[in-house]
Amino acid sequence: KPSLHERAAKKGLIYGAAVRTDILKSDAKYAATVIENCRMLVPEWEMKWAAGNVKLRPSPDKFDFAPADWLANFATSHDLLLRGHTLVWHRSLPSWFKEKANSKNAVELLKNHINTVVKRYAGKIHSWDVVNEVMLPKDGRSDGLRISPWLELLGQNYIELAFRLTSAADPNALLVYNEYDLDYDNRQQEAKRIAVLKLLERLRTKGTPIHALGIQAHLSPGDNQFNAKKLRKFLQDVASLGLKIMITELDVVDKKLPFDIQTRDRIIAGVYEDYLSTVLDERAVIAVLTWGLSDRYSWLNEFEPRSDKAPVRPLPYDTYMQRKLAWNAIARAFDQA
Ligand code: G3I
Repeated sequence: KPSLHERAAKKGLIYGAAVRTDILKSDAKYAATVIENCRMLVPEWEMKWAAGNVKLRPSPDKFDFAPADWLANFATSHDLLLRGHTLVWHRSLPSWFKEKANSKNAVELLKNHINTVVKRYAGKIHSWDVVNEVMLPKDGRSDGLRISPWLELLGQNYIELAFRLTSAADPNALLVYNEYDLDYDNRQQEAKRIAVLKLLERLRTKGTPIHALGIQAHLSPGDNQFNAKKLRKFLQDVASLGLKIMITELDVVDKKLPFDIQTRDRIIAGVYEDYLSTVLDERAVIAVLTWGLSDRYSWLNEFEPRSDKAPVRPLPYDTYMQRKLAWNAIARAFDQA
């Protein structure tokens, strides 16, 4: 049976997954499953300023490249493409940031970070998530931008600045704005889609070096429904700005789904197939990455646990590295793309 990335490749698409160095090192079966299925990797923690105990930026004047270097070498040695994630994200700022960053040194901090990190991996990175989750209309600004430390320190032009710095540091990487809550047919996500389109338009008009929109797609059936027509229209609007689209963090939150595993897996597989068959209609979509590969290591175990405490089942492989119905659904969606 051809693997997921082989099926994707037949349609000119890239399939990949988020991975973590600690797991690739400790679980050989997992590592083999990643290598078998993926053409592209994205670090779940290693290229953020900080994620838990993994800190690329332990202090204002220090970089710890060991975990990210390990992952970059892993990708190179298995001939895998690598994404960079992420240069500007309010949730990955290290604990020292609040005390040490101010409006006088913020530009320099950002410049230094982007120059150092992006140049180090230049030539090895397919695409950088330059900015992550910068839009949040419910924060109340007329431009829809999220009120974040970077916005407060640098003003609304920080987004353009980040793209320009990244482009100068690695002219060959595809530069991406990555965002969540763009999929569903409700007022809040509709407002976000509109605001995102306006931002993309503004950046393109200014000649900002931005090349793609990353759609995270953490799907959560139960309280949400998506409308295929509206979603396709949104993708077309993005594409008509001359941008590519990447589905960057796909998974299915099963918090609200029944306990029974067969029922749950069937619903989850259905969500994967509906979603992918809708978005893969748009030729600007170049890649699909799931946020992990095996349920065993999904962030949702910790961040969106079920009230019945049953382990979550959001990904294509179960905790024993067996393929699930979700795997078949993704495979079918690629086959039919
Ligand atoms: O390992 C430490 C532990 O030692 C410590 O006691 C504990 C206390 O905070 O933290 C643990 O680390 C946490 C780690 O997950 C493991 O649970 C970090 O704080 C926590 O920040 C980290 O969460 C990650 C999160 O991004 C923030 O970096 C998730 O693993 C990761 O899946 C998630 O990924 C994000 C994408 O980058 C952007 N889009 C949304 C997506 C899901 O939230």
